[in-house]
Amino acid sequence: MNSPSSQLIDPFGRHVTYVRISVTDRCDFRCLYCMAEEMTFLPRAQILSLEEIYTIAQAFCELGVSKLRITGGEPLVRNNVLDLFKKLGKLPALKELVLTTNGSHLAQMAEDLKQAGVKRINISLDTLNPFKFKQLTRTGELATVLAGIKAAKRAGFERLKLNAVILKNRNHQEVGDLVQFAIDQQIDISFIEEMPLGAISEHSRLESYYSSPLIKADLATRFSLIPSLEKTAGPSDYFTVAGTQTKVGFISPHSANFCSQCNRVRLTVEGQLLLCLGNEHAVDLKKVIRANPGDTAYLKQIIRNALLIKPEKHEFNLKEQPIILRYMNSTGG
Ligand code: GTP
Ligand code: 5AD
Ligand code: SF4
Repeated sequence: MNSPSSQLIDPFGRHVTYVRISVTDRCDFRCLYCMAEEMTFLPRAQILSLEEIYTIAQAFCELGVSKLRITGGEPLVRNNVLDLFKKLGKLPALKELVLTTNGSHLAQMAEDLKQAGVKRINISLDTLNPFKFKQLTRTGELATVLAGIKAAKRAGFERLKLNAVILKNRNHQEVGDLVQFAIDQQIDISFIEEMPLGAISEHSRLESYYSSPLIKADLATRFSLIPSLEKTAGPSDYFTVAGTQTKVGFISPHSANFCSQCNRVRLTVEGQLLLCLGNEHAVDLKKVIRANPGDTAYLKQIIRNALLIKPEKHEFNLKEQPIILRYMNSTGG
């Protein structure tokens, strides 16, 4: 999905057209694979204001970015976040404004998000069992998320997708039921291999690894998956479930590296431009905009130059202690 109009090109010839923006590191859940049980969140002075986030997003769009995904933490817990969606929804160069959420606030906010111009939503859902849901999220309620999915369907987004991180002996037995749920809801689903971001003591990431090929083999006993040509500019490799509209995606950072197709960078809520999810290479855009208010040309030059340090691939290794100390919630998914 490389766009010839993008001015953001890295040393490996990859065009960046997709930015994932984390608008908060806070979350009302504490998913086992994402956070430690006790987390300290960033003080307000350290995080970008909604206006600063908008300024940076606008600069990216002027540089040829056509897809913005708002993530977190849980993006919908940020105060006044709808104002940001409304402004982003009006950016002329933007083809897709999309959202990744845990679903806990969708029952109240789905309709307003649709009005603001959000095209598609990805909703995390790792299990359909309320007890397991509580165990995996530590604080979440399954019923609230299911109500959120219902509200999102009612609001009529172009597409809804579930995201399920699969852990061996935790929820790997449920992959078939999750696909059946997606079929019943007429939505899509992606299965994600857990990534070693941040140190957690609750489980060993190596022991909990359950690969996409294993999931595919499990699903083959119940469904027929037909390879799909569709690409969304995201990392999922998609299949259609025969006889249905539902697509099943596999995000496989370990078993099928997709870095050569990478078209994205991330903005953390602290204003760090992260060039790769699995490396520490970053440029401090907060410092740039606070030292040079209103100087968009300079900001764009800094962003263009940042592309020169985009790493070729991630360095995840499940067998060693994580080299990436950031947790997913402060990274932007
Ligand atoms: P679509 O645009 O709908 O295809 O979404 P997406 O798959 O790009 O985004 P989503 O927010 O649903 O992300 C799902 C999972 O993919 C998350 O766990 C992300 O962290 C992971 N992911 C997204 N981009 C990358 C990437 O560049 N590298 C790695 N390793 N994982 C990624
Ligand atoms: N590995 C893989 N995916 C993760 N997510 C959060 N932490 C991890 C991790 N360590 C997923 C969430 C959500 C998306 C933004 O990232 O479940 O779907
Ligand atoms: Fe919150 Fe998402 Fe992390 Fe779960 S994975 S704790 S919902 S940010």
